[in-house]
Amino acid sequence: MRVHLSSDLKRGKKVQIFVDGETVEAFAGETIAAALLASGIKRFRYTRKKGDPRGIFCGMGVCFECLVTVNGESNVRACLTPVVDGMKIDTKSGWLAHES
Ligand code: FES
Repeated sequence: MRVHLSSDLKRGKKVQIFVDGETVEAFAGETIAAALLASGIKRFRYTRKKGDPRGIFCGMGVCFECLVTVNGESNVRACLTPVVDGMKIDTKSGWLAHES
């Protein structure tokens, strides 16, 4: 069966999340990464030592490039974590302790 996304896509209930203090519309059932990409946010964090930008890479929880801070909890993988209404996401401070 072929699915045409424009007409057959069913999205969850609209929710609001807050990304670096800005309100972003998201849909229940999608991941933080999907919501960020859909709103045009590609850079999820910076590396700690060099300050290089990082975003989604593997999209399946393996690479840890997509780390963000969620409601004060750091190192949350955006590609695995579903959005929740009212969630506060900081894209500047998620990082791994051992990276360069
Ligand atoms: S993009 Fe690789 S762990 Fe999230």
